[in-house]
Amino acid sequence: MSTPSDLPDGFQVIVIGGGAAGLMCAIEAGRRGRRVCVIEHARQVGRKILMSGGGRCNFTNLYVEPDNFLSQNPAFCRSALARFTQWQFIERVDAHGIAWHEKELGQLFCDLSSKQIVAMLRTDAAQAGVEIRTGVSVSEVEGRADGGFRVRTSNGPLAADSLVVATGGLSIPKMGATGFGYELAERFGHSLLPRRAGLVPLTLSGRPLQQIEGLAGVSLPVLARAGNAGFRGPALFTHRGISGPSILQVSSYWREGEALTLDLLPDADAVQWLRETKRAQPSTRLEKLLATELPRRLAERLVQLHHWNGPLQHRTDDALAAVGQQLNHWPVRASGTEGYRTAEVTLGGVDTTGLDSRTMESRRVPGLYFVGEVVDVTGHLGGFNFQWAWASGHAAGQVC
Ligand code: FDA
Repeated sequence: MSTPSDLPDGFQVIVIGGGAAGLMCAIEAGRRGRRVCVIEHARQVGRKILMSGGGRCNFTNLYVEPDNFLSQNPAFCRSALARFTQWQFIERVDAHGIAWHEKELGQLFCDLSSKQIVAMLRTDAAQAGVEIRTGVSVSEVEGRADGGFRVRTSNGPLAADSLVVATGGLSIPKMGATGFGYELAERFGHSLLPRRAGLVPLTLSGRPLQQIEGLAGVSLPVLARAGNAGFRGPALFTHRGISGPSILQVSSYWREGEALTLDLLPDADAVQWLRETKRAQPSTRLEKLLATELPRRLAERLVQLHHWNGPLQHRTDDALAAVGQQLNHWPVRASGTEGYRTAEVTLGGVDTTGLDSRTMESRRVPGLYFVGEVVDVTGHLGGFNFQWAWASGHAAGQVC
């Protein structure tokens, strides 16, 4: 009996999606001697890599831990991350002579350009004998009764023993993002977890938006909290709401309608600070004091909104405690997010209970694999999403 790979235009492995996870998987499978074809509907592979990290690709992080990932099943990512670590990816980057630096918090970026990471993957894929077909779209996938898959593409039918779905998430549709991987997963009986935009700016509307009018461009270090999550880092006021690293991070944990607070003085107990200053310098005016610790425009706006003016000695300790409370827990009533148009990632996706965490293989359909962002594993900001793409692609590439 013939196997799919014996057929004309038959491969042993077809990878749908030429992004970070798909290319890594294809390279690994190719190195094992498998005949591999990557199908990418955009005109070039790795477009998100190219645009990532402001054009310098934050390709991994020195401090990768399972805690840096969100998933319905937080333990799922452990195996793949442990078997292909940030150190192994760094070795590859070094072997290609790509210079890199740590920007902050373990985030590693190319010194020159994210094009170098795409070039590295393309070179490794070529050396592993991987065939890459760009500008080709997949219209239909069928499982064959005798095993393997038949894939109908704009370039004609293909067949393969193994099929790897590496189509990424829904973020930045104009970069080629589609829901194809999710549809395919459902068609093969996999359940999906609800998807939503992550690592995304938050929007305000109505009165909360009016309250921050004129603050666009103001940035300050905060501790942003939503639910049990809290992230330190800069926050930035925009014309439509708030952004900046701490806000992007907390956005992945925030749900519409939930409370979000910003600690505007994350290194200080504001209640104690105000009371001590009152005792030491009772005639100091509150608005002047706030302007010493907060950006001037924000301090002025808070004073205007809450009538926080006048000498400290004119306020009781309780009244100052209320001011301090507000400074350490400033409530932000976000109305939504900027959505997939600007989100860096998609939360949710293919439910991991249907996948083997060592291999990313479907528990329902032998030979079918899901890797990268299409799976319900989403990293924090800082190179974690690429590390998941490399690690999950590598895991599938060892066996597919
Ligand atoms: P990815 O999206 O990379 O690849 C999927 C591929 O499948 C795409 O090439 C797409 O065109 C293709 N495809 C989709 N549907 C298809 C179909 N039906 N047929 C054929 N091909 C199809 N992460 C990080 O760690 N560090 C960073 O610096 C950044 N920066 C960053 C900036 C911006 C602006 C964004 C939007 C995202 C980031 N990220 C990031 C996140 C990171 O880019 C993302 O998590 C990974 O690219 C996910 O890799 P995948 O291979 O899973 O999907």
